[in-house]
Amino acid sequence: MTQALPESDQFKRQLSQTPASWATESARDLMALLSDHAHCELKAGANAMTMLKRNPNRPGFALRLAPLIKEECDHLHRVLREIEMRGGVLAQDAPNPWAEGLHAAARKLPPVRLPHGGFLDVLLISALIEMRSHERFERLAECAAMRDLESLYRNLCEAEARHGLLFQELARETFPAAAVEERFALLAEQEAVLMERLPPGPRIHSGVAGL
Ligand SMILES: [Fe+2]
Repeated sequence: MTQALPESDQFKRQLSQTPASWATESARDLMALLSDHAHCELKAGANAMTMLKRNPNRPGFALRLAPLIKEECDHLHRVLREIEMRGGVLAQDAPNPWAEGLHAAARKLPPVRLPHGGFLDVLLISALIEMRSHERFERLAECAAMRDLESLYRNLCEAEARHGLLFQELARETFPAAAVEERFALLAEQEAVLMERLPPGPRIHSGVAGL
């Protein structure tokens, strides 16, 4: 299990805060929301698998990424069961302009002038995705229209918080602290801008109606 960083060492949460209205709006099409959520879990697992496959020898990576992969697969299974219980099926995945935009925004920033600097972006984008998912699951757990799924989302919040911290820890263990903090601040800024431009809809990473 990931050891939590001391409060003072944790990165700030992403810059923008999602209002409660986002969850109420997103819950209007529950099956679409659950399908999108299932694909998020699938992609989180696949991202960690790719990271592990490309970095098998980095100290401390394999033994901490393997449980994360297992957990993402377990989350996928739990969300799939919720879809099935409601008589639905997993829909086709749709492109995610937010996650894709994050990688594109990182490529437009001045490159990290360190060996394997691109890998710092990979780790910090992974951290930001987990952190944003954590925030969105919190809003869903609090939403009156999602009462049947409250315990699922409360449970998943805790896991996403740990996953976000794990990617932050891996970044700090691999790169100098100052470089990590500086890059994180730049990427978090980009993340907030992208989030603000997203259209609303029944997706975990969608925009807020009325903004
Ligand atoms: Fe996760």
